[in-house]
Amino acid sequence: MKILNSLVLLLFASLCIGQSNGGMWLPNLLEQLNEEEMHAMGMELTASDIYDINSGSLKDAVVHFGGFCTGEVISSQGLVLTNHHCGYGQIQSHSSVENNYLEDGFWAMDKSEELPNPGLFVKFINKIVDVTDAALAEVSDDMELAQRNAIIEENIEAIVNTAELAEFEEIEVKPFYKGNQFYAFYTISYPDVRLVGAPPSSIGKFGADTDNWVWPRHTGDFSIFRIYADKDNNPAEYSEDNVPFTPKHHLPINISGAKEGDFTMVFGFPGRTNEYLPASAVKQTAAIVDPAKVAMRDVSLKVMDKYMRANEAIKIKYASKFASIANYWKKWIGEMQGLERSNAVGKKQVYEQEFMARVNANPELKAKYGDLLNELNGLYQNLQPYAEVNAYHSELTGRNTLMLNVAYYMNRLENLYNTEGEEAYNGFKGRLLNYLEGQYKNYDSTVEAEVFAKLIQLYFEKVPGNYLDQNLMEIVGRTDSKAMAFAKELYKVSGITNFESLKTILDLPANEAIEALGKDEMVLFYKKLNAPFEEKVKPNYDKYNNAASDLQRIYMAAQLEVFSEKRFFPDANSTMRVTYGKVDGYYPKDAVYYGTHTYLEGVMEKYVPGDYEFDVPKQLIKLYNQKDYGEYADSNGKVPVNFIASNHTTGGNSGSPAIDAKGNLIGLNFDRAWEGTMSDINYDPAICRNIMVDARYILFIVDKFAGAEHLIKEMTIVK
Ligand code: ARG
Ligand code: ASP
Repeated sequence: MKILNSLVLLLFASLCIGQSNGGMWLPNLLEQLNEEEMHAMGMELTASDIYDINSGSLKDAVVHFGGFCTGEVISSQGLVLTNHHCGYGQIQSHSSVENNYLEDGFWAMDKSEELPNPGLFVKFINKIVDVTDAALAEVSDDMELAQRNAIIEENIEAIVNTAELAEFEEIEVKPFYKGNQFYAFYTISYPDVRLVGAPPSSIGKFGADTDNWVWPRHTGDFSIFRIYADKDNNPAEYSEDNVPFTPKHHLPINISGAKEGDFTMVFGFPGRTNEYLPASAVKQTAAIVDPAKVAMRDVSLKVMDKYMRANEAIKIKYASKFASIANYWKKWIGEMQGLERSNAVGKKQVYEQEFMARVNANPELKAKYGDLLNELNGLYQNLQPYAEVNAYHSELTGRNTLMLNVAYYMNRLENLYNTEGEEAYNGFKGRLLNYLEGQYKNYDSTVEAEVFAKLIQLYFEKVPGNYLDQNLMEIVGRTDSKAMAFAKELYKVSGITNFESLKTILDLPANEAIEALGKDEMVLFYKKLNAPFEEKVKPNYDKYNNAASDLQRIYMAAQLEVFSEKRFFPDANSTMRVTYGKVDGYYPKDAVYYGTHTYLEGVMEKYVPGDYEFDVPKQLIKLYNQKDYGEYADSNGKVPVNFIASNHTTGGNSGSPAIDAKGNLIGLNFDRAWEGTMSDINYDPAICRNIMVDARYILFIVDKFAGAEHLIKEMTIVK
């Protein structure tokens, strides 16, 4: 029986070779874990062509862009390609009603026109080192969580302090496999990154929120930046004397493209996944947490949309905020549906049965892990009511209303003053003002007062009464009109609802500022709203959530041990990863097959003149009518726009290069297909697809649409 079992396993394993089942792999471990499979799938590179610490490799062309997206170097003069939606904040910050680069696009026709972006940086990875032993030194299995964390923190500090760093190099240590392994990343960051080009939103954001997370797609979601360095090619803050950066490697661009079945890999910085949760936690996400967050955002998006459609200046002001709130609103809706349709909970339950069967069959494992899943399920059950309130609370105070968020910071400032004194207060105040100045630029009190009025009512309706201040509910009122009147008045009388008056308050001597804030209506409102949450929800939420994370660590270790024949990739954690797959269509539903590529023809099919989302620039229509495609058409004579593949990606992978079997750039990752947005929790190779802009569309827009031929000349184009 045993032999038969292992034979079946072997057969299964060999069937899987040549077909990826997802995974975001560490580039330094490819040789060990993935190279064979990658070759079987058609890759012609070696693992060291991808990651090598001694000579230039693909990793030297991939950057963490601003800490939230990915970018890649595509010329010997430091040209960086990323998504339009990744450069969006920068494009917005250079835009005004008169000079609207969001609307019209922006192209620097020579280097002197490239625009600096204070605060933006790109980060390269020099090397990745396993430091698990050092990080876990002196840690034992029977330790209390707090003690364990304290020792690990000390160990990491020691690793960081004793690391041998090259000039300008930095090091960060991150936990993997839920804290069972640790890797150190040696990095180098460049702070002078300038905007070089961006298409108009009618290309870069074509289809906007209607098409977001959807295949078939027709979006030219790219923008171009350039890294600058000092004359020795070292990192330097912006200066007129800086020169274009010379990279160790830049990606050649293959304009032959890729066809169905071809190997592709995506190299970037995926943010966060949760692939190893128990069924009970997945259920909670789909049934409780996602719906709460979606309900709040439904309301706030409707209000913002109304004002943005009516007023051009507000449209610019709110563009970035709206896009980011809408993005995850839609993602969560897709995730809930996808978890349901892919029967994620059922599959996890089957997996857990197998886990328990193996554990129970082995006394040693049984002693260690026999109760683990029961305990974990119990914790998630205890967490549930608090997780729900926490979701409503964080959407209300942390995400959709700037004023409650500012009030939260004012509260922290006051606490800091009272506990740590004036020096700590002043330090935090300085950083806060800096940060908030940018936030207020994208804020309008009329829009927000209405968002506030609507959200607060929903909050009062959804959150159980014992977590609410009854008095406050009476004051706000239970009708739209009363709540609206209350909100208008609150936004009028509070001193923090515009940046100048906030600054006037904070410029006062500390004790006077604290006193003034203590009387401010918005701050008072926040405190009343928050008190029952702080007292009855947060402590319980933290307690169960921390305990669950700690048990997740043990469950992860248990899975690695119990399924030792399986390959596990570590959940995404904003570190550099490689994922690979094939250009591949899929069946979104019975008898409906989605092909791999979209073309300019499809842009014209979706065209709605003058529309908010589906307008097409005149110049693009002209190029289409004249079939003026240069070298950028496919063998069928059409210009490819987007394509899909079975690469396992997530948020943060936006702007990642899609690379062919030989190491050339063929596309730019920017999204995932609707049916598979649950891939962060339950990757399903049958329907999970990442969406990329075809490199030929990017070059076509740069060259033919924008006339920025000088940029094409910098690049290395191959066929
Ligand atoms: N869904 C993609 C990602 O998660 C693209 C988002 C930008 N586009 C938008 N319409 N909001 O980032
Ligand atoms: N659009 C995402 C990003 O910005 C990518 C994804 O979630 O698939 O990183």
